[in-house]
Amino acid sequence: MNESLNNTTLKTLIDKLHKEQNLSKDEWVTLITGRNSELSEYLFSLARKEQQKYYGTDIYVRGLIEFTNYCRNDCLYCGIRKSNKDLHRYRLSEDTILSCCREGYRLGFRTFVLQGGEDGWFTDKKMIHLIQEIKKHYPDCALTLSIGEKSHESYQAFFDAGADRYLLRHETYNHQHYSMLHPESLSAAHRQQCLWDLKEIGYQVGTGFMVGSPYQTAEHLAEDMLFMKELNPQMIGIGPFIPHHATPFASEPAGTLELTLFMLGLIRLMIPKVLLPATTALGTIHPKGRELGILAGANVIMPNLSPTDVRKDYLLYDNKICTGDESAQCRRCLETRMKSIGYQVVTARGDSLN
Ligand code: 5AD
Ligand code: FES
Repeated sequence: MNESLNNTTLKTLIDKLHKEQNLSKDEWVTLITGRNSELSEYLFSLARKEQQKYYGTDIYVRGLIEFTNYCRNDCLYCGIRKSNKDLHRYRLSEDTILSCCREGYRLGFRTFVLQGGEDGWFTDKKMIHLIQEIKKHYPDCALTLSIGEKSHESYQAFFDAGADRYLLRHETYNHQHYSMLHPESLSAAHRQQCLWDLKEIGYQVGTGFMVGSPYQTAEHLAEDMLFMKELNPQMIGIGPFIPHHATPFASEPAGTLELTLFMLGLIRLMIPKVLLPATTALGTIHPKGRELGILAGANVIMPNLSPTDVRKDYLLYDNKICTGDESAQCRRCLETRMKSIGYQVVTARGDSLN
Protein backbone atom coordinates (compact mmCIF):
# COMPACT_ATOMS: atom_id res chain seq x y z
CA MET A 1 0.00 0.00 0.00
CA ASN A 2 1.30 3.40 -0.93
CA GLU A 3 0.13 6.08 1.48
CA SER A 4 2.13 8.72 -0.37
CA LEU A 5 -0.18 8.71 -3.37
CA ASN A 6 -2.59 11.52 -3.01
CA ASN A 7 -6.01 10.30 -1.93
CA THR A 8 -7.71 12.98 -3.98
CA THR A 9 -6.23 11.45 -7.14
CA LEU A 10 -7.28 7.97 -6.08
CA LYS A 11 -10.81 9.08 -5.19
CA THR A 12 -11.05 10.67 -8.62
CA LEU A 13 -10.26 7.27 -10.11
CA ILE A 14 -12.96 5.63 -8.00
CA ASP A 15 -15.44 8.31 -9.09
CA LYS A 16 -14.48 7.66 -12.68
CA LEU A 17 -15.02 3.92 -12.20
CA HIS A 18 -18.38 4.61 -10.56
CA LYS A 19 -19.45 6.80 -13.45
CA GLU A 20 -18.01 4.95 -16.43
CA GLN A 21 -17.85 1.39 -15.02
CA ASN A 22 -14.44 0.93 -16.57
CA LEU A 23 -10.78 1.90 -16.18
CA SER A 24 -7.59 1.41 -18.15
CA LYS A 25 -5.02 -1.15 -17.08
CA ASP A 26 -2.75 1.56 -15.67
CA GLU A 27 -5.61 3.06 -13.71
CA TRP A 28 -6.51 -0.32 -12.20
CA VAL A 29 -2.89 -0.81 -11.16
CA THR A 30 -2.73 2.68 -9.63
CA LEU A 31 -5.88 2.05 -7.59
CA ILE A 32 -4.88 -1.42 -6.45
CA THR A 33 -1.34 -0.47 -5.44
CA GLY A 34 -2.35 2.91 -3.96
CA ARG A 35 -5.23 1.63 -1.83
CA ASN A 36 -5.46 2.48 1.87
CA SER A 37 -8.13 2.29 4.54
CA GLU A 38 -9.67 5.71 3.92
CA LEU A 39 -9.97 5.00 0.22
CA SER A 40 -11.45 1.56 0.93
CA GLU A 41 -14.20 3.08 3.10
CA TYR A 42 -15.02 5.49 0.29
CA LEU A 43 -15.11 2.63 -2.23
CA PHE A 44 -17.31 0.44 0.00
CA SER A 45 -19.86 3.21 0.56
CA LEU A 46 -20.30 3.59 -3.21
CA ALA A 47 -20.33 -0.18 -3.68
CA ARG A 48 -23.12 -0.55 -1.11
CA LYS A 49 -25.08 2.19 -2.86
CA GLU A 50 -24.93 0.24 -6.14
CA GLN A 51 -25.65 -3.08 -4.43
CA GLN A 52 -28.73 -1.61 -2.72
CA LYS A 53 -29.91 0.23 -5.82
CA TYR A 54 -30.42 -3.11 -7.57
CA TYR A 55 -30.84 -5.65 -4.80
CA GLY A 56 -31.88 -3.65 -1.74
CA THR A 57 -30.65 -5.37 1.39
CA ASP A 58 -31.57 -8.83 0.07
CA ILE A 59 -28.97 -11.56 0.22
CA TYR A 60 -29.38 -14.54 -2.08
CA VAL A 61 -28.34 -17.97 -0.88
CA ARG A 62 -27.09 -20.85 -3.03
CA GLY A 63 -26.97 -24.36 -1.65
CA LEU A 64 -23.64 -25.91 -2.53
CA ILE A 65 -23.56 -29.68 -3.00
CA GLU A 66 -20.00 -30.97 -3.23
CA PHE A 67 -20.90 -34.21 -4.96
CA THR A 68 -17.48 -35.65 -5.85
CA ASN A 69 -13.94 -34.94 -4.71
CA TYR A 70 -12.33 -37.10 -7.39
CA CYS A 71 -10.37 -34.88 -9.76
CA ARG A 72 -8.22 -35.66 -12.77
CA ASN A 73 -6.41 -32.33 -12.48
CA ASP A 74 -3.44 -31.34 -10.39
CA CYS A 75 -3.78 -27.60 -9.80
CA LEU A 76 -0.94 -26.58 -7.53
CA TYR A 77 -3.12 -24.70 -5.04
CA CYS A 78 -5.97 -27.16 -4.62
CA GLY A 79 -6.39 -29.64 -1.77
CA ILE A 80 -8.30 -32.19 -3.88
CA ARG A 81 -5.65 -32.28 -6.65
CA LYS A 82 -5.02 -35.78 -7.92
CA SER A 83 -1.53 -35.98 -6.36
CA ASN A 84 -3.00 -35.63 -2.89
CA LYS A 85 -3.05 -39.25 -1.80
CA ASP A 86 -3.96 -38.68 1.88
CA LEU A 87 -7.51 -37.94 1.08
CA HIS A 88 -10.57 -40.10 1.26
CA ARG A 89 -12.21 -39.85 -2.13
CA TYR A 90 -16.01 -39.96 -2.36
CA ARG A 91 -18.88 -39.63 -4.77
CA LEU A 92 -22.45 -38.93 -3.70
CA SER A 93 -25.14 -41.12 -5.21
CA GLU A 94 -28.00 -39.55 -7.12
CA ASP A 95 -30.30 -40.39 -4.20
CA THR A 96 -28.04 -38.63 -1.72
CA ILE A 97 -27.79 -35.58 -3.97
CA LEU A 98 -31.57 -35.47 -4.29
CA SER A 99 -31.97 -35.68 -0.53
CA CYS A 100 -29.55 -32.73 -0.14
CA CYS A 101 -31.83 -30.81 -2.50
CA ARG A 102 -34.90 -31.86 -0.49
CA GLU A 103 -33.36 -30.58 2.73
CA GLY A 104 -32.16 -27.45 0.93
CA TYR A 105 -35.61 -26.75 -0.47
CA ARG A 106 -37.13 -27.11 2.98
CA LEU A 107 -34.61 -24.58 4.29
CA GLY A 108 -35.57 -22.03 1.63
CA PHE A 109 -32.89 -22.60 -1.00
CA ARG A 110 -34.05 -22.00 -4.57
CA THR A 111 -30.65 -22.46 -6.22
CA PHE A 112 -28.61 -25.63 -6.03
CA VAL A 113 -24.99 -25.69 -7.08
CA LEU A 114 -23.51 -29.03 -8.07
CA GLN A 115 -19.80 -28.65 -7.54
CA GLY A 116 -17.13 -31.29 -7.97
CA GLY A 117 -13.69 -32.15 -9.18
CA GLU A 118 -13.27 -33.13 -12.82
CA ASP A 119 -14.44 -36.68 -12.29
CA GLY A 120 -14.73 -38.93 -15.34
CA TRP A 121 -17.00 -41.34 -13.47
CA PHE A 122 -19.78 -38.79 -13.87
CA THR A 123 -20.16 -39.22 -17.62
CA ASP A 124 -22.31 -36.82 -19.61
CA LYS A 125 -25.06 -39.43 -19.54
CA LYS A 126 -25.03 -39.60 -15.73
CA MET A 127 -24.88 -35.81 -15.42
CA ILE A 128 -27.80 -35.35 -17.79
CA HIS A 129 -29.89 -37.81 -15.81
CA LEU A 130 -28.99 -36.05 -12.56
CA ILE A 131 -29.81 -32.62 -13.99
CA GLN A 132 -33.17 -33.85 -15.31
CA GLU A 133 -34.08 -35.45 -11.98
CA ILE A 134 -33.28 -32.30 -10.00
CA LYS A 135 -35.20 -30.09 -12.42
CA LYS A 136 -38.14 -32.50 -12.41
CA HIS A 137 -38.41 -32.45 -8.61
CA TYR A 138 -37.59 -28.74 -8.18
CA PRO A 139 -38.83 -26.94 -11.30
CA ASP A 140 -38.94 -23.61 -9.47
CA CYS A 141 -35.24 -23.81 -8.59
CA ALA A 142 -32.20 -22.75 -10.55
CA LEU A 143 -29.52 -25.36 -11.10
CA THR A 144 -25.89 -24.31 -11.29
CA LEU A 145 -23.04 -26.55 -12.40
CA SER A 146 -19.44 -26.14 -11.29
CA ILE A 147 -17.66 -29.16 -12.74
CA GLY A 148 -14.79 -27.67 -14.69
CA GLU A 149 -13.67 -27.72 -18.29
CA LYS A 150 -15.80 -29.69 -20.75
CA SER A 151 -16.40 -29.70 -24.48
CA HIS A 152 -18.87 -27.32 -26.09
CA GLU A 153 -20.98 -30.35 -26.86
CA SER A 154 -21.16 -31.43 -23.21
CA TYR A 155 -21.95 -27.91 -22.03
CA GLN A 156 -24.74 -27.77 -24.62
CA ALA A 157 -26.12 -31.15 -23.53
CA PHE A 158 -26.22 -30.11 -19.85
CA PHE A 159 -27.92 -26.86 -20.79
CA ASP A 160 -30.49 -28.73 -22.87
CA ALA A 161 -31.09 -31.05 -19.90
CA GLY A 162 -32.05 -28.02 -17.80
CA ALA A 163 -28.93 -26.55 -16.18
CA ASP A 164 -29.33 -22.78 -15.86
CA ARG A 165 -25.98 -21.50 -14.69
CA TYR A 166 -22.31 -22.46 -14.74
CA LEU A 167 -19.44 -21.42 -12.49
CA LEU A 168 -15.93 -21.62 -13.86
CA ARG A 169 -13.40 -19.25 -12.37
CA HIS A 170 -10.85 -18.08 -14.92
CA GLU A 171 -8.36 -18.21 -11.97
CA THR A 172 -6.02 -15.65 -13.55
CA TYR A 173 -6.19 -14.03 -16.97
CA ASN A 174 -2.42 -13.75 -17.44
CA HIS A 175 -1.16 -16.80 -19.33
CA GLN A 176 2.25 -16.87 -17.67
CA HIS A 177 0.76 -16.55 -14.20
CA TYR A 178 -1.79 -19.25 -15.07
CA SER A 179 1.04 -21.63 -15.93
CA MET A 180 2.64 -21.01 -12.53
CA LEU A 181 -0.52 -22.20 -10.77
CA HIS A 182 -1.41 -25.15 -12.98
CA PRO A 183 0.16 -28.24 -14.54
CA GLU A 184 1.21 -28.04 -18.18
CA SER A 185 -1.90 -29.88 -19.33
CA LEU A 186 -4.05 -26.85 -18.46
CA SER A 187 -3.99 -23.46 -20.17
CA ALA A 188 -5.48 -20.03 -19.64
CA ALA A 189 -6.53 -20.01 -23.30
CA HIS A 190 -8.63 -23.16 -22.97
CA ARG A 191 -10.12 -21.99 -19.68
CA GLN A 192 -11.22 -18.75 -21.26
CA GLN A 193 -12.56 -20.52 -24.35
CA CYS A 194 -14.80 -22.58 -22.06
CA LEU A 195 -16.23 -19.38 -20.60
CA TRP A 196 -17.01 -17.96 -24.03
CA ASP A 197 -18.63 -21.29 -25.00
CA LEU A 198 -20.81 -21.26 -21.88
CA LYS A 199 -21.92 -17.72 -22.58
CA GLU A 200 -22.69 -18.43 -26.18
CA ILE A 201 -24.84 -21.44 -25.22
CA GLY A 202 -26.93 -19.23 -22.97
CA TYR A 203 -25.90 -20.08 -19.42
CA GLN A 204 -25.80 -17.44 -16.73
CA VAL A 205 -22.04 -17.57 -16.28
CA GLY A 206 -19.87 -17.04 -13.24
CA THR A 207 -16.14 -16.53 -13.31
CA GLY A 208 -13.57 -15.24 -10.82
CA PHE A 209 -10.16 -15.72 -9.28
CA MET A 210 -8.28 -16.09 -6.03
CA VAL A 211 -6.91 -12.97 -4.37
CA GLY A 212 -3.29 -13.26 -3.31
CA SER A 213 -2.51 -16.46 -5.18
CA PRO A 214 1.22 -17.21 -5.37
CA TYR A 215 3.14 -14.88 -7.74
CA GLN A 216 0.09 -12.64 -8.28
CA THR A 217 0.87 -8.96 -8.99
CA ALA A 218 -1.30 -5.84 -9.25
CA GLU A 219 -0.86 -6.08 -13.04
CA HIS A 220 -2.39 -9.55 -12.99
CA LEU A 221 -5.36 -8.25 -11.01
CA ALA A 222 -5.73 -5.37 -13.47
CA GLU A 223 -5.80 -7.90 -16.33
CA ASP A 224 -8.44 -9.91 -14.44
CA MET A 225 -10.61 -6.79 -14.20
CA LEU A 226 -10.24 -6.05 -17.92
CA PHE A 227 -11.07 -9.64 -18.84
CA MET A 228 -14.15 -9.72 -16.63
CA LYS A 229 -15.34 -6.42 -18.05
CA GLU A 230 -15.11 -7.91 -21.51
CA LEU A 231 -16.76 -11.22 -20.58
CA ASN A 232 -19.46 -9.42 -18.61
CA PRO A 233 -20.45 -12.47 -16.54
CA GLN A 234 -23.63 -12.62 -14.44
CA MET A 235 -21.67 -13.83 -11.38
CA ILE A 236 -18.15 -13.29 -10.07
CA GLY A 237 -16.66 -15.42 -7.30
CA ILE A 238 -13.50 -14.21 -5.62
CA GLY A 239 -11.90 -15.24 -2.36
CA PRO A 240 -8.49 -15.21 -0.77
CA PHE A 241 -6.01 -17.92 -1.69
CA ILE A 242 -5.51 -20.09 1.41
CA PRO A 243 -2.67 -22.62 1.50
CA HIS A 244 -3.49 -26.32 1.79
CA HIS A 245 -0.89 -28.38 3.68
CA ALA A 246 -0.72 -31.22 1.12
CA THR A 247 0.00 -29.05 -1.95
CA PRO A 248 3.16 -27.49 -3.41
CA PHE A 249 1.88 -24.14 -2.12
CA ALA A 250 1.68 -25.32 1.50
CA SER A 251 4.06 -22.61 2.75
CA GLU A 252 2.84 -19.76 0.58
CA PRO A 253 1.16 -16.87 2.40
CA ALA A 254 -2.64 -16.55 2.23
CA GLY A 255 -4.34 -13.69 0.45
CA THR A 256 -5.51 -10.90 2.74
CA LEU A 257 -8.95 -9.87 3.93
CA GLU A 258 -8.13 -6.29 3.12
CA LEU A 259 -7.24 -6.82 -0.56
CA THR A 260 -10.15 -9.23 -1.09
CA LEU A 261 -12.63 -6.66 0.24
CA PHE A 262 -11.08 -3.96 -1.93
CA MET A 263 -11.43 -6.15 -5.04
CA LEU A 264 -15.08 -6.90 -4.13
CA GLY A 265 -15.80 -3.18 -3.97
CA LEU A 266 -14.11 -2.55 -7.33
CA ILE A 267 -16.05 -5.40 -8.96
CA ARG A 268 -19.38 -4.04 -7.67
CA LEU A 269 -18.62 -0.67 -9.28
CA MET A 270 -17.34 -2.20 -12.53
CA ILE A 271 -20.39 -4.47 -13.07
CA PRO A 272 -23.05 -3.00 -10.76
CA LYS A 273 -25.69 -5.72 -11.28
CA VAL A 274 -23.30 -8.64 -10.86
CA LEU A 275 -24.17 -11.42 -8.41
CA LEU A 276 -21.21 -11.41 -6.07
CA PRO A 277 -20.74 -13.95 -3.28
CA ALA A 278 -19.01 -13.33 0.01
CA THR A 279 -17.20 -16.66 -0.18
CA THR A 280 -16.49 -19.38 2.34
CA ALA A 281 -12.77 -18.69 1.89
CA LEU A 282 -13.38 -15.10 3.00
CA GLY A 283 -15.25 -16.42 6.03
CA THR A 284 -12.31 -18.72 6.72
CA ILE A 285 -9.57 -16.06 6.93
CA HIS A 286 -11.60 -13.82 9.25
CA PRO A 287 -14.50 -14.63 11.62
CA LYS A 288 -16.53 -11.75 10.17
CA GLY A 289 -15.20 -12.13 6.63
CA ARG A 290 -18.55 -12.78 4.99
CA GLU A 291 -20.27 -9.89 6.77
CA LEU A 292 -17.42 -7.59 5.74
CA GLY A 293 -17.72 -8.93 2.20
CA ILE A 294 -21.40 -7.94 2.09
CA LEU A 295 -20.52 -4.50 3.43
CA ALA A 296 -17.92 -4.16 0.64
CA GLY A 297 -20.54 -4.88 -2.06
CA ALA A 298 -21.20 -8.64 -2.14
CA ASN A 299 -24.83 -9.88 -2.17
CA VAL A 300 -24.72 -13.68 -2.29
CA ILE A 301 -23.77 -16.41 0.20
CA MET A 302 -23.14 -20.03 -0.74
CA PRO A 303 -23.44 -22.29 2.28
CA ASN A 304 -22.82 -25.97 2.13
CA LEU A 305 -25.65 -28.49 1.67
CA SER A 306 -23.35 -31.51 1.44
CA PRO A 307 -23.91 -34.31 3.96
CA THR A 308 -21.86 -33.55 7.09
CA ASP A 309 -19.86 -36.79 6.85
CA VAL A 310 -18.20 -35.85 3.53
CA ARG A 311 -17.50 -32.18 4.23
CA LYS A 312 -14.10 -32.83 5.77
CA ASP A 313 -13.09 -34.54 2.51
CA TYR A 314 -13.84 -31.51 0.37
CA LEU A 315 -11.12 -29.24 1.65
CA LEU A 316 -9.67 -27.15 -1.15
CA TYR A 317 -7.70 -25.24 1.53
CA ASP A 318 -6.93 -25.60 5.24
CA ASN A 319 -9.24 -24.59 8.13
CA LYS A 320 -12.38 -24.35 5.99
CA ILE A 321 -15.36 -23.23 8.09
CA CYS A 322 -18.71 -25.01 8.56
CA THR A 323 -17.32 -28.50 7.93
CA GLY A 324 -18.90 -29.80 11.14
CA ASP A 325 -22.21 -28.00 10.84
CA GLU A 326 -25.54 -29.31 9.59
CA SER A 327 -27.13 -27.45 6.69
CA ALA A 328 -29.91 -26.19 8.95
CA GLN A 329 -27.37 -24.78 11.41
CA CYS A 330 -25.58 -22.87 8.66
CA ARG A 331 -28.85 -21.55 7.33
CA ARG A 332 -29.82 -20.16 10.76
CA CYS A 333 -26.31 -18.91 11.43
CA LEU A 334 -26.30 -16.96 8.16
CA GLU A 335 -29.70 -15.49 8.86
CA THR A 336 -28.40 -14.12 12.16
CA ARG A 337 -25.16 -12.90 10.63
CA MET A 338 -26.93 -11.04 7.84
CA LYS A 339 -29.46 -9.50 10.24
CA SER A 340 -26.60 -8.25 12.41
CA ILE A 341 -25.45 -6.00 9.55
CA GLY A 342 -28.91 -4.92 8.36
CA TYR A 343 -29.41 -7.40 5.51
CA GLN A 344 -31.76 -10.38 5.13
CA VAL A 345 -31.52 -13.79 3.51
CA VAL A 346 -34.31 -14.26 0.96
CA THR A 347 -36.01 -17.32 -0.51
CA ALA A 348 -35.67 -16.64 -4.24
CA ARG A 349 -33.87 -17.96 -7.28
CA GLY A 350 -31.95 -14.71 -7.43
CA ASP A 351 -31.45 -14.58 -11.17
CA SER A 352 -29.10 -12.08 -12.68
CA LEU A 353 -30.49 -8.68 -13.62
CA ASN A 354 -28.20 -8.47 -16.66
N1 5AD B 1 -7.54 -21.33 -1.62
C1 5AD B 1 -8.60 -20.60 -2.01
N2 5AD B 1 -9.39 -20.93 -3.04
C2 5AD B 1 -9.13 -22.08 -3.67
N3 5AD B 1 -9.72 -22.67 -4.73
C3 5AD B 1 -9.09 -23.83 -4.98
N4 5AD B 1 -8.07 -24.01 -4.11
C4 5AD B 1 -8.07 -22.92 -3.29
C5 5AD B 1 -7.25 -22.50 -2.23
N5 5AD B 1 -6.21 -23.22 -1.82
C6 5AD B 1 -10.80 -22.03 -5.48
C7 5AD B 1 -10.45 -21.98 -6.97
C8 5AD B 1 -11.55 -22.81 -7.60
C9 5AD B 1 -12.67 -22.73 -6.60
C10 5AD B 1 -13.66 -23.84 -6.66
O1 5AD B 1 -11.98 -22.76 -5.35
O2 5AD B 1 -10.51 -20.63 -7.43
O3 5AD B 1 -11.98 -22.31 -8.87
FE1 FES C 1 -22.15 -22.51 8.65
FE2 FES C 1 -22.27 -20.27 10.26
S1 FES C 1 -22.64 -20.48 8.14
S2 FES C 1 -22.10 -22.39 10.83
